[in-house]
Parts: sequence; structure tokens; C-alpha cells
Amino acid sequence: MAEEFVITKEQRDENQKKITDLLLSTKRPGMERLVEWIVTKTDFFTAPASTKYHLNCEGGLALHSLHVYQRLSEKVAQGLIKIEPDTVIITSLLHDLCKVNFYVKETKNVKEGTKINQYGKEVPNWVEKEVWGIKDSFPVGHGEKSCWYIQNFIRLKAEEYAMIRLHMGPDKNTYPDPFSETAKIYPSVVAIFTSDIESAYILEEKL
Ligand SMILES: [Fe+2]
Ligand SMILES: [Fe+2]
Repeated sequence: MAEEFVITKEQRDENQKKITDLLLSTKRPGMERLVEWIVTKTDFFTAPASTKYHLNCEGGLALHSLHVYQRLSEKVAQGLIKIEPDTVIITSLLHDLCKVNFYVKETKNVKEGTKINQYGKEVPNWVEKEVWGIKDSFPVGHGEKSCWYIQNFIRLKAEEYAMIRLHMGPDKNTYPDPFSETAKIYPSVVAIFTSDIESAYILEEKL
């Protein structure tokens, strides 16, 4: 992905409005407080979606969440799967809530080509670059942490909990695998997993 991809302040504001309007439209008890917490106590609308992979730019997390919302909505609209509209909104927009207050800007020395030094010798050219790092103050797991944050404010239905907890797909080396076992009960865990990887590895790869 091109590092120079930029989400402008106007686009970030527009994404914030879209996301908060959609979340509030669910009328889920506690949602107003959850939205207020996200807006005033977290960096959800400025955080990147990753340190160096998909949408590693300011506002990337919010844009990625909207992409997953669009992908998941399309699967429902196409008749592939039935998921309640509120469940689509809550799970897609909040699946990566664990990434708030998580990324920090750091400086790092990186090699950028070569230069000729004072003795006429070709040497590596080191430059100081600003990169995204990670500071995880609550490392309980990815989907787990999103569910925990959300459930501090609203109640998740069993299906919504399953979708957010398992949106990263099957766990490695576990049998029975919670992902495939849960997918038999809630096929929507498969739909959010594919929406997530389609967004991160196909759609956002082109940006
Ligand atoms: Fe994720
Ligand atoms: Fe994601």
C-alpha cells in the first residue's frame, strides 16, 4: 500500500458523521454514551487501521470500519445472508474498536538508498522517519477487547458478540475451532470475516 495515502480532514469529519449517525440510528440502550465515549475519550476518528499494512494513515481505522460496513451490507442486500440492520451497523463499525488509544507515533531510523560520504565511499543513507507503533494497555486479545469496550456501554446480542469476537477468522491450532463451531450457529461470523479481509487485503490494498 502506498504510504502517502492521505485522508483529508474534511473526509475524516465526513466519516465521523456517517459513523456516529449510523450508530445512533440503532437506538440501542446505552448507544448515546458509547458514541460520546468514542468521540471524546478515544482517537477512533484519527487512528490508523494498522502500523504498516492497510490504511496506516490518520483516519484509517474509521475508513476501514466503513468499508467493512459497506461489504457486509452488500452481502445482506445480495441475499447471501440475513443479518438484522442494527447488527450489521454495530458489528461492522465497532469490530476493530480494540484499536482505539492503541497506536502511537514514533520516530525510527530507516535506510533510504545510499549516499556518498566525505571519503567518496557509497554508504547507506539513514533517515529519521515518523512511523506508527503500538502501545497496548489492555492486551486481552483483539476481538475480545472490542467486545469488552462495547459492553461497557451497550448489551451485545449473542450473534453480535460472536461476530466481533471471531471477525479475524479461525484461531490457529485449536480443535474444536471456535470459529467453525460458531459459524454453524451464526453464519454471520463468516460474512463479517470475509468483509474484513476483503476490505483490508483487496479494497484498501489499492489505495
Ligand atoms: Fe480486526
Ligand atoms: Fe478490521
